[in-house]
Amino acid sequence: MPARTISIANQKGGVGKTATTTNLGATLYHLGHRVLVIDMDPQGNLSASFGSRSGMDTTVADALLDRKIPLPIVPIYASGEARLDLVPASVSLATAEAALMNKLGREFRLRDQLAAVADRYDFVLIDTPPALGLLTINSLVAAQLVLVPTEARFFSLQGLQMLQDSIDEILYINPNLRILGILLSKFDRRLREEQTVAKYLRENWGALVFDTSVGTNSKILEAASAGIPLFELVGSQRAADIYRSLAQEVLARV
Ligand SMILES: Nc1ncnc2c1ncn2[C@@H]1O[C@H](COP(=O)(O)OP(=O)(O)OP(=O)(O)O)[C@@H](O)[C@H]1O
Ligand SMILES: [Mg+2]
Repeated sequence: MPARTISIANQKGGVGKTATTTNLGATLYHLGHRVLVIDMDPQGNLSASFGSRSGMDTTVADALLDRKIPLPIVPIYASGEARLDLVPASVSLATAEAALMNKLGREFRLRDQLAAVADRYDFVLIDTPPALGLLTINSLVAAQLVLVPTEARFFSLQGLQMLQDSIDEILYINPNLRILGILLSKFDRRLREEQTVAKYLRENWGALVFDTSVGTNSKILEAASAGIPLFELVGSQRAADIYRSLAQEVLARV
């Protein structure tokens, strides 16, 4: 079976897209799956979250602009059948996005590149930038599923509607795309505002909202800064367990 491809998307910045991609990817690897994570953000946060490694000179930008260049794949972890590989990005992806505007088939570039490697993986997770531009469109066209991390803030609700509208547009060219789930990814349950918004979300988006929510947890921030997934960080068991329960929900839904 070809890989299940999941885009992690929300045009709002700083809501936990990259933390979710990193730690869900690492957890699925830990559970024995073959995982590819793709950085589609010129900020390169996902690439940095797996540490700086050699072999990152070629990035996803090169493969998007020139179909003769295959997706650059950097091995991160491997154990038995399980592995986690990364397609890195750098700031050059911003220039590539502008250059793509004038290219034929500009929305399909990632999908077509991915088709060449997808059968080597069980899961492909795509981290997207905080915008609804061509990089996010490429990511949504390449995916079957969208996972939406969100904060539990009033303004996030408006953002979710915008994202839903964009997904509806994408259906013109990728009719099978569907929302896998909405994740409260930085949930501070001590704040009344957040409790209210979380309740509203569950009432209005119903079963789409994952039962698991990720609370604000300093270990998540520490791990990202250290360039490692949570499971490698000492004392992060509690946060790692939350991503494990998220992974279980994801596995039950795909
Ligand atoms: N549950 C959490 N608790 C504490 N810190 C978190 C949590 N989730 C994410 N963070 C931190 O918050 C910041 C923003 O998270 P992240 O980079 O994952 O968001 P993003 O949506 O990918 O941002 P961008 O839109 O810029 O790509 C990061 O420093 C990250 O380490
Ligand atoms: Mg990010």
